[in-house]
Amino acid sequence: MVDEVLALLPADAKLIGDMTVGGGGHAEALLQHAGREVELIAFDRDVDFLNLARERLRRLPNKISYFPDSYANVGDQLGDNYRGRFDFLLLDLGLSSWQLQNSGRGFSFTQSDEPLDLRFDATSGQTLSEKLSETDETGLATILREFGEIRGARRLAAEIKAAQAEGNLNNVGDLAGLAERHVRTDRRNKYLAQVWQALRIWVNEELKHLDLGLTALVAYLKPAGVMTVISFHSLEDRMVKKFFARQENPCICPPRLPQCVCGRKPTMKRIGKKAQAPSDAEVRRNPRARSARLRAARRLFDS
Ligand SMILES: C[S@@+](CC[C@H](N)C(=O)[O-])C[C@H]1O[C@@H](n2cnc3c(N)ncnc32)[C@H](O)[C@@H]1O
Repeated sequence: MVDEVLALLPADAKLIGDMTVGGGGHAEALLQHAGREVELIAFDRDVDFLNLARERLRRLPNKISYFPDSYANVGDQLGDNYRGRFDFLLLDLGLSSWQLQNSGRGFSFTQSDEPLDLRFDATSGQTLSEKLSETDETGLATILREFGEIRGARRLAAEIKAAQAEGNLNNVGDLAGLAERHVRTDRRNKYLAQVWQALRIWVNEELKHLDLGLTALVAYLKPAGVMTVISFHSLEDRMVKKFFARQENPCICPPRLPQCVCGRKPTMKRIGKKAQAPSDAEVRRNPRARSARLRAARRLFDS
């Protein structure tokens, strides 16, 4: 959704944060649009992918700093120096086609020989295999149900645990082969995508990072600065929607009170209340974009 993102960039932007820079596609478009004087701060949890962005953006004249970390750790990485200074912050959530095809970390259920890893950051945290060993059947069923809306989660969780205990769960092909027995052939791909989504969200604690990150990042916007978030599934989009609504209307007073006594002041104003979907042309060009939803909000002057 590059055009939609560019349309939200303030005309006089000096400092941009691409907090999920990935392969640098959005970052490149933003810098080319904004001009050579603009500085970019780029984050990504996946250091391999961050290096691809570095390669792609190398020829641009702009000052660019790279942070191989989660945007949720923006405070640790940028400290106070950059607080209240960003004109534009972009979060393009989820994972990219490059990661699906080339990471070697099992992000795609079609890459049968890859390990059950699923970490964005391959240098820290536990792999999927390690997490599965430490989680019981009930816990795994909850994850499949809550993060992937998997029907029959309990039965699938039991089979996964049994296969692992018997030494029969060693790679992507093993897990896909086991999971696909739960659905009709015509629903296979959708079902496996949901299983993989649930496990990836779990391994990377994606919703926790989003929750922490959104809250932390507001303080880095300057007044009238814009935060734009593109999400790829309803769990993320719901969080972003609620977050922006709460920034706009944080009052927690009971409705019966004639005036606010909680003292909470709005910090942001939503730019359009509905999420934007990609154009038909974009979905035709890139069918994976069809579930993307873009939301944006502007920091208020007196927040
Ligand atoms: C859809 S891709 C971004 C693509 C990018 N906008 C482009 O134009 O190439 C999402 C990226 O977010 C990264 N990511 C996911 N969670 C993250 C987090 N908590 N902090 C930083 N990056 C994250 C992934 O590693 C991936 O590179």
